[in-house]
Amino acid sequence: MYEGLLKQYQEYLPITDKTPMLSLAEGNTPLIPLHNLSKELGITLYGKYEGLNPTGSFKDRGMVMAVAKAVEDGAKAIICASTGNTSAAAAAYATRAGIKAYVVIPDGKIAMGKLAQAIIYGADIISIPGNFDEALKAVRDIAETEAVALVNSVNPYRLEGQKTAAFEICEQLEKAPDVLAIPVGNAGNISAYWKGFKEWHEVKGTALPRMHGFEAEGAAAIVRGEVIEQPETVATAIRIGNPASWKLAEAARDESGGHIDAVTDEEILNAYRKVAAQDGVFVEPGSAASLAGVIQHVKSGKIKQGETVVTVFTGNGLKDPDTAINATDVKISKMSDLEDMRQHLKEGVAKL
Ligand code: F0G
Repeated sequence: MYEGLLKQYQEYLPITDKTPMLSLAEGNTPLIPLHNLSKELGITLYGKYEGLNPTGSFKDRGMVMAVAKAVEDGAKAIICASTGNTSAAAAAYATRAGIKAYVVIPDGKIAMGKLAQAIIYGADIISIPGNFDEALKAVRDIAETEAVALVNSVNPYRLEGQKTAAFEICEQLEKAPDVLAIPVGNAGNISAYWKGFKEWHEVKGTALPRMHGFEAEGAAAIVRGEVIEQPETVATAIRIGNPASWKLAEAARDESGGHIDAVTDEEILNAYRKVAAQDGVFVEPGSAASLAGVIQHVKSGKIKQGETVVTVFTGNGLKDPDTAINATDVKISKMSDLEDMRQHLKEGVAKL
């Protein structure tokens, strides 16, 4: 039976005989071949569907490791700033481990599904008037003096857990892809994947991908080379103007011969609708940033025809139902009786 990441990749993780083997059976997510998009783009495209983790995002990989280490060190509480997914994962793993989670979120800027999770798992939810960057600064300061363990991705155990997604991709493909496309917010995940690919290559000789990271244009600090004081994007998960792992992300890009580029909200929403409508995979808008980037890079030639590309779908589409409903022309056909419905179907099927 699959028992989660700490068991699965024990020898590659900082686990001692005192580390509790915490698990919600996270990881082991599918690598979905995106047949229709592959055909359209002329590449072999897969989606690493991290939205199927227990709390619906890749954050579970890092959180299981960070919370296990916090418990090992005797912590009774953890704290994080979050655009939503980190807070959901922190809340779930804290309650699982029998400790308290304090989650600090930017007021009014988190998707409803994520807030619902933090509530139902029983976190202490703190909302601040500022954005994610300000929330992160506040929790970093507080964790210096108070008896709480900081579990944002500045905590190195987070990246250790998250690197396991790269291991899985290499196992699933039996090699590394040519290109790994990934959304970039606080820049922890791109850094974790690169670490994972390098470690796996060293042990298994699976080769290395080029790392292609994508920021939302209104929050593209790394692309512009400056802090964005008021980041804005429809992809609230990556609405971050001062990424904490900025330097590590640049190193991943440069060492791998990759790129970090920006995608507009329009490109994000287009990719968001496209992967759901064409290949049947519902991801959250932040996750669609990497697919938007793949489409952009196929056009510009940064991804070549015939290449094998893995795009990381970092979070589940159900996290943000409001954007799904607002980003499409919702058409619900109301019927008064069975005859009405029959007629509706007849007309529809006749056009197929
Ligand atoms: N995709 C999703 C769905 C996310 O929630 C995040 C980050 C990212 C991509 C970007 O990953 O920060 O490692 O570059 N979410 C954080 C949060 C900030 O608080 O949930 P990153």
